[in-house]
Amino acid sequence: VEFPHYSEASIAVANEIANLIKEKDKKGEYCVLGLATGSSPIKVYEELVRLHKEEGLSFKHVVTFNLDEYYPMDKKNLQSYNHFMQEHLFAHIDIKDENIHIPNGELAYEDIHDFCLNYEEKIASFGGLDLQLLGIGRTGHIGFNEPGSHFNSGTRIITLDHITRVDASDSFLGIDNVPRRAITMGIATVRKAKRIILLAWGQHKAEIVKETIEGEISSEVPATYLQSHENTTFILDYEAGSQL
Ligand code: GLP
Repeated sequence: VEFPHYSEASIAVANEIANLIKEKDKKGEYCVLGLATGSSPIKVYEELVRLHKEEGLSFKHVVTFNLDEYYPMDKKNLQSYNHFMQEHLFAHIDIKDENIHIPNGELAYEDIHDFCLNYEEKIASFGGLDLQLLGIGRTGHIGFNEPGSHFNSGTRIITLDHITRVDASDSFLGIDNVPRRAITMGIATVRKAKRIILLAWGQHKAEIVKETIEGEISSEVPATYLQSHENTTFILDYEAGSQL
């Protein structure tokens, strides 16, 4: 689906999420959201905060699982995805702290494996993700599933692609400060979501969007794995869709 501008697109996505939250709430069920970071979802979160403040949308029965976090990464660090989520969403809504899950970048290396298994089990214990929000990296990564990621991959520690570290270098004030690894949900974790919405804005995403939608399914462009998911929508602005 293409929109002229990302702000209208983001409002439409926020409305879909809000409706899902309300629908599940009516049935007395938790809404389980998979959330993304990066610049792409910022306006969606801004609109959800507005719906909370101005229209009484409640997040009391919302459970969230974030896609990824750098490793190693202190939660308090300004570049952490923990900090990002607090700043753009969690600090402004009525979600309960115990319902927020974000991969832990502070773990000792030997504890990561168990943490990742537990992350998968927790998602399953809530009945799986109702909706997963995604951005896309220029390498075709979703979450931090870089080229080479396996179709069946679960939550795990990965090594970041050089291009991804270059793209992150501005916010880290230099590539040397960008962590070399990250903990990310896997392709299988994401694909188990009942609904997937991928956001892409701007000319710099046009080429990878084309490869993702029109290219062959391949681990070289992990986002192509979404082609075979039956309930995925790509939400694009005209620029990101310009090569289709
Ligand atoms: C990071 C995140 C991804 C995100 C990507 C694109 O690598 N781990 O989840 O999709 O950046 O970022 P942006 O939305 O800023 O273009």
